[in-house]
Amino acid sequence: MAERVRVLLSEAEVDAKIQEIGEQISRDYAGKQVHLVCVLKGGSFFMCELAKRITVPVSLDFMSVSSYGSETKSSGVVKIVKDLDEPLKGKDVIVIEDIVDSGRTLSYLLEMLRKREPNSLALCTLLDKPERRVIDVKVDYTGFNIPDEFVVGYGLDYDQRYRNLPYIGVVEFN
Ligand code: IMP
Ligand code: MG
Repeated sequence: MAERVRVLLSEAEVDAKIQEIGEQISRDYAGKQVHLVCVLKGGSFFMCELAKRITVPVSLDFMSVSSYGSETKSSGVVKIVKDLDEPLKGKDVIVIEDIVDSGRTLSYLLEMLRKREPNSLALCTLLDKPERRVIDVKVDYTGFNIPDEFVVGYGLDYDQRYRNLPYIGVVEFN
């Protein structure tokens, strides 16, 4: 079966949006330092690009989680595969995600991070599929709301491939 990727959001559109979010965060956190928490691997491309566009002081940390369940349906029970290196206590934390889908992974993760007593905890996602939401999650910064289609690129994978595409695309089979 042949596989091709249809462009949903071009590189220029994604870049412009990240610039916008970077400016917004810089305004919202004026006078503070932000601590960006990247959820690997999907959030990594977005976080690097976003961090470059934030003008207040930035520190970074990474974590990796795996959700129990199938590849296409997360169960909401999250296992920490790699925890953060640094404590969150007293920090102004922004969790950086590639996409919010059912919301299961993130609601669990945010609850867990809140217990570490950050000064504030916000969520920033490049993509959101609001139609798919099962558990309500408050998203503070959203790049794009997209329809219920499986997307790749900019960190998002299909079977570990396509993360390196500089745009967001939909995998089509024919
Ligand atoms: P959920 O919000 O707990 O359902 O899970 C979100 C996670 O599922 C994301 O962090 C992605 O890793 C993955 N995911 C959801 N939708 C897509 C998609 O369209 N393409 C690639 N990965 C996706
Ligand atoms: Mg993810």
